Amino acid sequence: MSEDEPWTADRLGRALQDRKKRLEAERRAAFLPLGIDAECRWPASRLFHRHSMLGPAWTPILTADEVEALTLDRGYKRYPGADRVALPRPAAPNATLEDAIASRHSERSFADRPVSLDAVATLMRLGAGVTADQEVPRRAAPSPGALYPVETYVFALSVNDLAPGLYHYDALDHAFETVAAPRGREATRAFLPSDLHRAGPALLIALTVAFPRVQMKYLERGYRFALLEAGHIGQNLVLAAAALDLAAVPVGGFWDEPFNDALGLDPDEEAVVYAVIVGHRP
Ligand SMILES: Cc1cc2nc3c(=O)[nH]c(=O)nc-3n(C[C@H](O)[C@H](O)[C@H](O)COP(=O)(O)O)c2cc1C
Repeated sequence: MSEDEPWTADRLGRALQDRKKRLEAERRAAFLPLGIDAECRWPASRLFHRHSMLGPAWTPILTADEVEALTLDRGYKRYPGADRVALPRPAAPNATLEDAIASRHSERSFADRPVSLDAVATLMRLGAGVTADQEVPRRAAPSPGALYPVETYVFALSVNDLAPGLYHYDALDHAFETVAAPRGREATRAFLPSDLHRAGPALLIALTVAFPRVQMKYLERGYRFALLEAGHIGQNLVLAAAALDLAAVPVGGFWDEPFNDALGLDPDEEAVVYAVIVGHRP
């Protein structure tokens, strides 16, 4: 490209592409000293995958007593002093498992109609609720070492008998803790791609990982475990939505920083990893 060439839209586009390529080459080169070939297009993931592998030589970092203390401490996320909303325990939906699996599809448009609080409570219970009240209460989704590092939040955008706002699900008490003041449907604009924001879901369920809870025990592998737990909960949620005849889509492509900000999280300690948006079918 000659320096004398006029700055047309085409030239600007090419210059931007060149700059992107240069930055990407610099990014990849930074992984060379860590043993990752500069040709690898996903060096961070390759490095992480290598460093989170297990083998027969793996030994736990915590003692048995420390593991027991961590598992039993019920150190899940809490909002002490927050206003609480007791959730109903509605009857389980009548759909069979086969019906729910067969009718689940990702749906990305929603009717402008509120979802009932009963339906939201059912989603919480079947998605992430307590199913067996033991010394370590067991939940609807499996969890690495029964540590339950995944936390569930709900942006209530249009729910009957529930003020719009951000809530944290307290699984042990099957209740919501109020986290943030009502902001209505605008709440998701900053962190959802605009087509999903405009689709007008009645609620958005955010799944976060409280990293120390699982990584104190499993270190690097704990990150993989936590994502898998979130996937289990996500599947419970979309199947429960299908059983309730609601539309839902799981969302992995959100804007991380404003999403974590909206939840008031320090992303080095706890961060959003998955979300599900839900509403009535159009
Ligand atoms: C981990 C994961 C992340 C996803 N993220 C998005 C997303 O950000 N936006 C979206 O519209 N759909 C998302 N989906 C939904 C997929 O596009 C959808 O599952 C796929 O097209 C198959 O269609 P089905 O769900 O109707 O079977 C995601 C699905 C998964 C499993």
